[in-house]
Amino acid sequence: MQPSKGTVLITGVAGFVAFHLSHDLLEKGYSVWGVDSFNDYYDVRMKEKRIEILSQNKNFSYERLNFANYADLFAKAKDKKIEMIIHLGAQAGVLYSLVNPWAYEESNIKGTLSIFELARHLNIKKVFYASSASVYGGNTKLPFEESDPTDQPLSLYAVSKKTNELLAKTYHSTFSLRMVGLRFFNLYGTYGRPDMAFFQFSRAILSDSPITLRGGNTMKRNFTHISDCIRAINGIIEKDTYTCDVYNIGGSQVVPVPEAVALLEKYLGKKAKINNTPKLQGEIEVAYASTKKLTDETGYTPKMTIEQGLQEYATWFLENKDWLLSLKEFK
Ligand SMILES: NC(=O)c1ccc[n+]([C@@H]2O[C@H](COP(=O)([O-])OP(=O)(O)OC[C@H]3O[C@@H](n4cnc5c(N)ncnc54)[C@H](O)[C@@H]3O)[C@@H](O)[C@H]2O)c1
Repeated sequence: MQPSKGTVLITGVAGFVAFHLSHDLLEKGYSVWGVDSFNDYYDVRMKEKRIEILSQNKNFSYERLNFANYADLFAKAKDKKIEMIIHLGAQAGVLYSLVNPWAYEESNIKGTLSIFELARHLNIKKVFYASSASVYGGNTKLPFEESDPTDQPLSLYAVSKKTNELLAKTYHSTFSLRMVGLRFFNLYGTYGRPDMAFFQFSRAILSDSPITLRGGNTMKRNFTHISDCIRAINGIIEKDTYTCDVYNIGGSQVVPVPEAVALLEKYLGKKAKINNTPKLQGEIEVAYASTKKLTDETGYTPKMTIEQGLQEYATWFLENKDWLLSLKEFK
C-alpha cells in the first residue's frame, strides 16, 4: 500500500468523469474526498453504482451535498486538509439547458463560485475545473485551439462554462490561486452517462428501437476515450507548471457519427434501425480539438482508437445488459 499523497476534493464524484478520475487517483496513492448531490438528471442508480465501486477503497470517502450551498460545503470541508480540488460536478448536457436553465445557474454558476470561494478561504492553491468544447460555440475555424475566440456561445450550458473560465481568471489574479480549465471533447467509456450518444445508441440497438441520425456523414465528432482524458489530466497535474490556463482535452480521431454507429453494431453483434434526417438548423457539423498545447507542455498523445474504445464499451454494455437496459430511459 502506497502512502497517501494527500487529499483531493473531487466534486460531482458520482458522475462519469469523476468516477474514473477518482479510481485512478486512488490507485496512485491519493486520498479522495468527494461531494455529490446525486441529482436525478439521469438515473441515480448509475451514480450509486459508481460510488459502490469507489467505496471499496478505504482512502475514498464522500458526502452527499449540494455544493452551491456554501455554508454546508464549508462546514463539511474545513477539516479535511484538502490539497487540491478537481471540480467536475455540474449540470451537464446542452439540450437540457432549454428545459431547465435554473439547474445550470445553480450548479454551474453559483456552484462553481462556491467551490472557488472554498479554495480561497481554505487556501487550497491548486484548482482544476471542467470546462467544455461548447465554449467554442459558433467558431468555424478548425481545429479548435485554446487561443480561438470563445465569445459566441450557442447554449446556456456554454455560457455557464465560459463563466467558469472568467471566474477562474479572477480568482487567479485576485487570490493567486492556480486555476486550470479542462475543455473536454465528447468523452465516452464504461460507466458513461445514460444521456450521451453511445449509451442511447447501444440501448436502441439492443432493444430494437430506431436511432435517428441527423446530417449523415457530415456530422463528425472528436470522441475522446475516458482513459485518454484521465491521462491528460494527470499529465497536467504532474507537470505542475500551470498558473492560470485552459487546455483542450480531445481524442485521436475525428469520426463521422454513422461510422461510430456501425462500429457499435459490429461490437454489439446487432444491426441498428436507422432513421436518417437532415441536420437541425444551426447544428455544428464538425468539432474537433487541437491538442498541440497539451502535447507540447505535457507530452500527451491520445492512445485509444475509436475501434478499441467502442469494442471495450460494447463489451461492458453486453456484460451489464440487463441492468443497463433497466435504467430509466433518458428523454
Ligand atoms: N462527458 C462529457 O463528454 C463532457 C464534455 C464536456 C464537458 N464535460 C463536463 O465535465 C464534467 C463532468 O461531466 P460528466 O460527464 O461526468 O457529468 P455527470 O453528470 O456524470 O457528473 C456530474 C455530477 O455532478 C453532480 N452535481 C451536479 N450539480 C451538483 C451540485 N450542485 N452539487 C453537488 N453535485 C452536483 C451530479 O449529481 C453528477 O453526479 C461536467 O462539468 C461536464 O459539464 C463533460
